Amino acid sequence: MTADPVSTLLLFGATGDLAHRMLLPSLYGLYADGLLPTGLKIVGTARSPLDDAAYRSSALAALTEHVQAEYLDATKAAAFAGMLSYVPLDATKAAGFAALRERIDPAAGLAIFLSTAPSLFKATIDGLEGAGLTGPRVRLALEKPLGSDLASSREINDAVAIAFPEARTYRIDHYLGKETVQNLLALRFANSLFEPLWNSAHIDHVQITVAETVGLEGRGDYYDGAGALRDMVQNHMLQLVALVAMEPPADFDATSVRDEKVKVLRSLRRIGANDVGNCVVTGQYAAGASDGQPVPGYIDELGHPSATETFVALKAHVDNWRWAGVPFYLRTGKRMPQRSTEIFIQFKCVPHSNFASRGATTQANKLLISIQPEENIRLQVMAKTPGLDRAGIRLRELPLDLGMVNAFADHRRRIAYERLLLDLIEGDPTLFVRRDEVEAQWDWIDGVRAAWNDAGLAPRPYAAGNWGPSAAIALTERDGVHWHD
Ligand code: BG6
Repeated sequence: MTADPVSTLLLFGATGDLAHRMLLPSLYGLYADGLLPTGLKIVGTARSPLDDAAYRSSALAALTEHVQAEYLDATKAAAFAGMLSYVPLDATKAAGFAALRERIDPAAGLAIFLSTAPSLFKATIDGLEGAGLTGPRVRLALEKPLGSDLASSREINDAVAIAFPEARTYRIDHYLGKETVQNLLALRFANSLFEPLWNSAHIDHVQITVAETVGLEGRGDYYDGAGALRDMVQNHMLQLVALVAMEPPADFDATSVRDEKVKVLRSLRRIGANDVGNCVVTGQYAAGASDGQPVPGYIDELGHPSATETFVALKAHVDNWRWAGVPFYLRTGKRMPQRSTEIFIQFKCVPHSNFASRGATTQANKLLISIQPEENIRLQVMAKTPGLDRAGIRLRELPLDLGMVNAFADHRRRIAYERLLLDLIEGDPTLFVRRDEVEAQWDWIDGVRAAWNDAGLAPRPYAAGNWGPSAAIALTERDGVHWHD
């Protein structure tokens, strides 16, 4: 990649939750390590009528709250705050954009980050264009939700495309900024061990779990209109499927990697109304416990009745040569027993066990890629239990652990947005989602939703603190498969 750093980063939604929890702490982390371009200006904008000084002190308060104490250096934080300025703006009123233009020279390179409601995207882009804040050295990053179905995502993409060509449009899926997610590519394509086995001849099935212990977190207005399928599967989980299933890219550049991912997304087998009973389970949490504390059910938290799913489990297939007949079991939910994001690859058993005649059973190998809360890669292999074997050979499954945290103890673990913001500032779109990927994702998700509407699927209750409704267990057990918990 040839870095083409911008001289200004413009943050829309600069007083919002994402800015406080993730964006400002990430920018501070990059600054503290000398990774931001010298002289970078960070301009925040939102509706609140703040001046520069008030915004800087709110940013410092956000750093104190959200940056780990060991990384927060008062002198560096003060210097970082000095890079910030603030312009109050109602994005629905074109006139306000002139004030932004006075502070920003788009010809010197500008990266814009829209962390606002999608309903404001079009007005914001019009305002930017009207004020001359677009052009060949201006890039635009967009946070989800990018639509609620294929049609609405196309509307957003069309509105963006008027002012920003695809090469300068950076759609964020923060899972792609996670280190272990990127490590999937290294594991697969920098080792000769796995790739020859990475196909239907040797892999029995794949499981991907994204479990969260949190509930609504005060996001009812958004979440109730989205649900688990659109909130988590459409984006993060399908990106994980694409990275697990893709062919080796010709290069690790933005075009090659995304070309391979989109082929997988387009190969996802459509789930029709007749498949729903076998391939989809939805659930909604009822009152229960989380981290040992009693918690209310979804409807009580929300304050009104709702048929939105807070859990979904799916059996998906990637219809191509490599993956023919290999189920991909996906599940995600709120108020699960533990926070855990993991990819579990179940290999097939050895074709013939010579040990069977000596009384020993052989288990199939398994590869567990834990993404969070701990980063770890574990391969389960068979080993002989020491002994004289007078009563037969005994074999045992043992883990080969790649303890990422210990192996890279001297490497700081960065939050996903640090990587994504730096790539945006420097102009590398590889870890951002291309329009054709997003649309292939929505196309498949729309099919699932249409099928479950046709089949009249309703979420089944599960008590908070459980792994979803029991039907989710039956979904895999029917195939003789157990979820990896
Ligand atoms: C977001 C979803 O995209 O991802 C949230 O909107 C979810 O509902 C979050 O909690 C999970 O992200 P992470 O990085 O904590 O796994």
